[in-house]
Amino acid sequence: MIGPLGTRLSATACLAVLIATAAGPSVLGRQAGPMQSEAASSGNGQSHEFGYAAPIAAVLQASIAPAPATAVTAAAPAPALSAAMAVSDEDLFSPGLSGAERRRFTVEDDSTGPPVLDLATTDSNTWLEVNYTQLVATGRRLLPRVKPGTIAMAMVKGGGYGHGVVTAAKAFLESGYAEIGTGTLNEALALRRSGVTAPVHLCYQPDIQSARAVAHAHDVQVYVEDKDFLSALCRAATAENKTTPVLVHITVSTGAVREGVRTEAEALALGHQVAACPGLHLRGVMTHHGRLDVFQPIVKAFKDTFGQDIIAHMATSTSGFFQGQEYHLDLVRLGTVNYLFGNQSSSSAARWLTRITGIKQVHPGDMLGYDETSVTRNMTIAVTNAGTVDGADTVTEVVIRGKVCRVVGHGGMNMHMIDITDVPDAKVGDLVMMHGCCADDGRFLNVWVPSIWPNVERIEIRGSEGAYHQEQQMRLNNATSSGSYALAQELQD
Ligand SMILES: *Cc1c(COP(=O)(O)O)cnc(C)c1O
Ligand SMILES: *[C@@H]1O[C@H](CO)[C@@H](O)[C@H](O)[C@H]1NC(C)=O
Ligand SMILES: *[C@@H]1O[C@H](CO)[C@@H](O)[C@H](O)[C@H]1NC(C)=O
Ligand SMILES: *[C@@H]1O[C@H](CO)[C@@H](O)[C@H](O)[C@H]1NC(C)=O
Ligand SMILES: *[C@@H]1O[C@H](CO)[C@@H](O)[C@H](O)[C@H]1NC(C)=O
Ligand SMILES: *[C@@H]1O[C@H](CO)[C@@H](O)[C@H](O)[C@H]1NC(C)=O
Repeated sequence: MIGPLGTRLSATACLAVLIATAAGPSVLGRQAGPMQSEAASSGNGQSHEFGYAAPIAAVLQASIAPAPATAVTAAAPAPALSAAMAVSDEDLFSPGLSGAERRRFTVEDDSTGPPVLDLATTDSNTWLEVNYTQLVATGRRLLPRVKPGTIAMAMVKGGGYGHGVVTAAKAFLESGYAEIGTGTLNEALALRRSGVTAPVHLCYQPDIQSARAVAHAHDVQVYVEDKDFLSALCRAATAENKTTPVLVHITVSTGAVREGVRTEAEALALGHQVAACPGLHLRGVMTHHGRLDVFQPIVKAFKDTFGQDIIAHMATSTSGFFQGQEYHLDLVRLGTVNYLFGNQSSSSAARWLTRITGIKQVHPGDMLGYDETSVTRNMTIAVTNAGTVDGADTVTEVVIRGKVCRVVGHGGMNMHMIDITDVPDAKVGDLVMMHGCCADDGRFLNVWVPSIWPNVERIEIRGSEGAYHQEQQMRLNNATSSGSYALAQELQD
């Protein structure tokens, strides 16, 4: 069987492995639970430049299942899908709507739309500036930590963790990543449409009705854990009559339960099912947020049974990668950490911006907004044009003219009120930063970027482009000329 295996990172690109990698688990790695095998627990807990602050750890922790108490091999095999639930060929191959009748719009596809937006005339009420240069730089700082010979894959699921799936993928490929991991077929297709030719993985098994779409997309590697899905995929892939098979990875649960079969026997059975299908080719075996000691014997069984070319993978940035290169195996799947840098707890490559649309003077006796917050002193209030529908409900602080200001009153669908009493020079039209770097006192405002709603326009910037940065530089120049060298220095660093 043929199977275009992915480009491996060259050995030279990986020579500069940082000592910090071997020094011990990351802050988040230590909290990760199931990965904490004996082999990895000897670290000294040192943090590193890719450390995480508490808020993001909490966000991530909330999405991570605790370690199961019992060994995985003791678990009962998952019940098979009943025949009634399986999808028939009729379902898979019925013509359905024609292309012309379908109208899809998806936030996972930032491959269309105007390539350049004039920031001075944008009609966006709120937008996210995504610093492509920063994504490339972060990728470059991270890649030397990957074990030499291991394939580096950048995860761009969740629309590139909120940064735009195409923007993120192109930046990480430029930084040296060899492969790209997506969460949905739409994301994978957006990458292909935008000219990404690197290997693309669909890292979750989609619903069985999508098997034909996956086979038709063809050039997308798919993670599989269910025999009925595999049968449907096999029929569809074989019917496609392509000269190269669809690449498949078998998903095994070794801790987190969420995805994967739970025994080696089930995993091997799926492997045999792939091997027997002319339209498919077995490329890998993977586990997510699992245990190395449980995974290792399964990996050995796969390589012994299906050949040493089978790639095994488990490490992610929040699970395993920083715990030691023994977790890196044949491929690493790095998401979160690619978007952070320098001890930020959310994206350092993004700034979420809006503008002041109105300024009001309020006095004791006034009531603010829907929750009728009583005003107790004279205040100046700015109204901004970003609210619930943009995902701004959790925003409690913003930066205006370099100063951190509090959100007051209850937000609205498209509005926030900000106390700007301490920013007397604020004007209608001023930029308001809800996420990003930095206030003039160095504070970084944190929103978990994937939670910024998809309808908020993403604008790719490079180098020193971008509205906030330029405004800050202007203030910096003013500060320098008025003798505030400390501030000038701080902003320049
Ligand atoms: C999200 C995800 C990753 C990346 O995880 P991070 O901890 O964000 O690096 C890797 N693999 C799979 C299957 C994922 O779902
Ligand atoms: C982040 O940096 C601050 C200040 O430099 C430091 O106090 C804190 O411990 C760091 N946090 C992490 C998680 O590295
Ligand atoms: C974008 O990132 C690059 C690389 O880190 C940085 O030099 C530049 O200042 C950033 N641009 C903005 C506008 O912040
Ligand atoms: C695939 O090939 C077979 C045999 O050559 C042929 O009968 C069938 O029509 C082909 N299917 C498609 C979708 O081209
Ligand atoms: C508050 O504003 C009112 C109306 O402008 C003014 O008369 C009053 O003196 C102000 N109070 C304070 C404490 O500044
Ligand atoms: C910088 O100073 C000039 C002159 O005082 C002023 O007009 C301008 O608004 C200032 N710019 C900023 C961003 O503060």
